[in-house]
Amino acid sequence: MTQESSGCPVDPETTPEALIERFGRDLVNDFDLDDPAFNTNFDETLNFMVRKCPVVHSKVGRGYYLINTQDDVRAAAQNWKTFSSAKGYMPNRPEGLPYLMPEESDPPIHTAWRRVLNPHLSPKTCLGYEQAVRDDVDALIDQFFDRGTCEFISEFGALLPGWAFFKNVLGVPIDDLAMLVNGVEEGTFSLDMEERGRKFGEVFAYLDAHLKWRSTQPARGDLIDTILAGVTYEDGTQSPWEHKVSILVDLTFGGIATTTFVLGSAIHHLATHPDQLQLLLDDPSLIENAIEEYARFYPPVVALGRTTTADVEVAGTTIKEGEFVMLAYACASRDPRHMDEPEKIDLAREGIPHSTFGVGPHRCIGSNLARIELTASLEGWLRRIPSFRVKPGGEPTYVTGFLRSMRTLHLEW
Ligand code: HEM
Repeated sequence: MTQESSGCPVDPETTPEALIERFGRDLVNDFDLDDPAFNTNFDETLNFMVRKCPVVHSKVGRGYYLINTQDDVRAAAQNWKTFSSAKGYMPNRPEGLPYLMPEESDPPIHTAWRRVLNPHLSPKTCLGYEQAVRDDVDALIDQFFDRGTCEFISEFGALLPGWAFFKNVLGVPIDDLAMLVNGVEEGTFSLDMEERGRKFGEVFAYLDAHLKWRSTQPARGDLIDTILAGVTYEDGTQSPWEHKVSILVDLTFGGIATTTFVLGSAIHHLATHPDQLQLLLDDPSLIENAIEEYARFYPPVVALGRTTTADVEVAGTTIKEGEFVMLAYACASRDPRHMDEPEKIDLAREGIPHSTFGVGPHRCIGSNLARIELTASLEGWLRRIPSFRVKPGGEPTYVTGFLRSMRTLHLEW
């Protein structure tokens, strides 16, 4: 027998009382991505849900479902006609927020944009940014190397993705990066939904102004020029200005809100597992694989949403048309049906079947750049600082919602 709203078996582990005692919440019938208990019990919650509960439900706000197994997440992510992105990716979306292209659109609008944007972030194009990213890694380390300590997130992990994307890909000065990083972070994690809307608005206004300014400048043939040129939709209309701004906002959110968590987590894991650190120092060719394992185990995107366009059954649970459904990529990447010992970090794991970068038409456009940032960072860090540890009292702090990030991590060497 299963619980009605969740497909979760009725057993002593899944009674509301047992769940509240173990996780601080009835996560089968009343899950909450923003609950501080989820932030604290992150790994245990993911591991439990993917094993036990193919679908869970939340009563928060307008309510939403979470789909947790790899097969179901993959199937829903591919089935964009039934699981539409056009009504947004965040649960309980603040009123009045403009939709972001391409993330919050379906084909054919989505396809039109991805077709012109993809070449700017293809594996080949991103290889062209590799040396610049390596130089950025060195320049950031230079700023604190002699001190023998750093707060990894504010001095490295939150800066490198912004440098890589703004300076190298978009070609904009990085003076305003701190404001953008703060806007993206508060726009994502603030517990006050109105504040989320306000911060989001600030990022929108800044990027709108930047795009306007670029439209007055000679063309450079870069990503911004492609956005400015726009696309023609199937009905023959030209993409409006708001869509162009939203493309830049979406890229900015993706570009600076995600990689930090993998970076911080990888460095923290190495700081606390000397044997694993030694493994990578002895054989740096393992770093490429290690990055996939870190991306699998430390997923910056916990879950992203879709809206059902018809009644649909997932793992025995009927989800009605018009419901908000989150694809829990973080759970899917730990599915024991697809890998051995998913709760364990194994840097030499072969063929890592993770869904950290998403699945289907919305699969991450920035994954090639993210991989370069991660590889350049680990290689550069281990070359410059091969021995390091967590400063006493400087254990990492985290923040979690539909994304997860690390807020602080104090290191010394
Ligand atoms: C470790 C780093 C990253 C992770 C884990 C990540 C994860 C994801 C995921 C899971 C999606 C799928 C969304 C969905 O299914 O609705 C996605 C989409 C997207 N990502 Fe990333 N991302 C990362 C880095 C980046 C970077 C560096 C950029 C920009 C340069 C970026 C830009 C985007 C954009 C624009 C989309 C929307 C694509 C679409 O809707 O077609 N991401 N990302």
